[in-house]
Amino acid sequence: MVGIAAVRNDVAAGQAQRSTKRATALGILAALAGLMFGLDTGVVAGALPFISTDFHATDALQGWIVSSMMAGAAFGSLFAGRISVRFGRTGAMLGAAVLFLSGTLLCALAPSAAVLILGRVFLGLAVGIAAFAAPLYISEITVESARGSMISFYQLMVSLGIFLAFVSDSILADGGHWRWMLGIMAVPASIFLGIVLILPHSPRWLMMKGRTESARKVLQNLRSDEEVAEAELQDIQARIKHSSDAGFGLFRKNKHFRRSVFLGMLLQVMQQLTGINALLYYAPRVFQAAHFGTSAAIWATTLVGLTNMAFTAVAIAFVDRWGRRPLLILSCTIAAASLLGVGVLLGVGATTFAMQLVLCGLVLVFVAGFAIGEGPLVWTLCSEVQPTRGRDFGIGCSTVTNWSANWAISKTFPLLMVAMGASSTFILFAVFNGLFILMTLFMVPETKGVSLETIEANLFAGKRLRDLGR
Ligand code: GLC
Repeated sequence: MVGIAAVRNDVAAGQAQRSTKRATALGILAALAGLMFGLDTGVVAGALPFISTDFHATDALQGWIVSSMMAGAAFGSLFAGRISVRFGRTGAMLGAAVLFLSGTLLCALAPSAAVLILGRVFLGLAVGIAAFAAPLYISEITVESARGSMISFYQLMVSLGIFLAFVSDSILADGGHWRWMLGIMAVPASIFLGIVLILPHSPRWLMMKGRTESARKVLQNLRSDEEVAEAELQDIQARIKHSSDAGFGLFRKNKHFRRSVFLGMLLQVMQQLTGINALLYYAPRVFQAAHFGTSAAIWATTLVGLTNMAFTAVAIAFVDRWGRRPLLILSCTIAAASLLGVGVLLGVGATTFAMQLVLCGLVLVFVAGFAIGEGPLVWTLCSEVQPTRGRDFGIGCSTVTNWSANWAISKTFPLLMVAMGASSTFILFAVFNGLFILMTLFMVPETKGVSLETIEANLFAGKRLRDLGR
């Protein structure tokens, strides 16, 4: 008897493992949306110097070429929620994949700057939709225990995408092949399109649409056994009943909810004011301002991408050990100090090789500083501080704010560089990072190890934002 029971247990354990693996594999496939996001945001940096020469682009036009994608993303994220409800998470990702592919082709074949900008708007729409639908899908198909790490994995894929785009730009920079730089993205876009076509629907979405039988089938396929699948099905059903889409109504009526929404939006504005994207999108230009040659500038940019990716991984490892506030304060302090150094060096003119090395080092320190806190933690906090009742609305507001601020910075950065000079522009960003320290001290709660229910109860009890986790 004992022997049979043991064999049964083994079989069950084996099945559970296979199912968990299947769910994780699907999560990894969906996280390719993050890779696409990173690739398409990163690729423009290395291509811009060559595009500018070909199209005789002024600073203002360069600003449009870069920022049109962020405008598209802001717009896309505004509708991503509704699209994911209507067509499902996989439907939304399919739409994004088609937009990724068509946007890429438009950009690579663009006969004029106007068509290039249109292509970038397409890519932006794709990013805005995918950046909403993919993490949602991942959180709905993976098992509870893997949820946190899978979402972090998604963030890591974004920075991997940025890095790979920089590497590919560096390789193609020799002949100034900007059309190839942009066009090569059709390969991952096609792979992503193929993958999205085989992803099953999210069980939660199927339940929302009243398709319980289909939801049951998907869950049975993804979970260890029928009992587990059934229990999860009941759980989803109960949660759907209790969740309301009345976010805007709550926002109008409830001043406490308004505070969490504003906190999320302010965090996103501050994240963009750190200057990270000015650097990521225009890095070669910044290095050229410090008298690097074109090729050296593009390779230095690749290092920026590598640093960003490596330190995002560090943040993922430490965030649940050190807590949000200490990590964020450390991050802002490193960022402020290093940018101040960059500003001063650009001011005195980094003319010698040694000074250029120091400048490159300081830029990398800034990126590392950003990546251990300001980057990933803002996203984490934005989702943690929103109460269940108004969650989608709250996260939607902060995401749209992220892209709008991202657009504003990427649009104005080249103009600022001309109007104020590179040195003062970086000193200004250093000041914003300093302000971010103050904001963290006075407004950011410590949410490490605190349940979302506690945070929500504290919010509605009128506790100060800083004390939401206590
Ligand atoms: C964050 C920012 C994004 C930036 C990225 C860099 O996710 O929101 O704008 O490009 O970090 O890793």
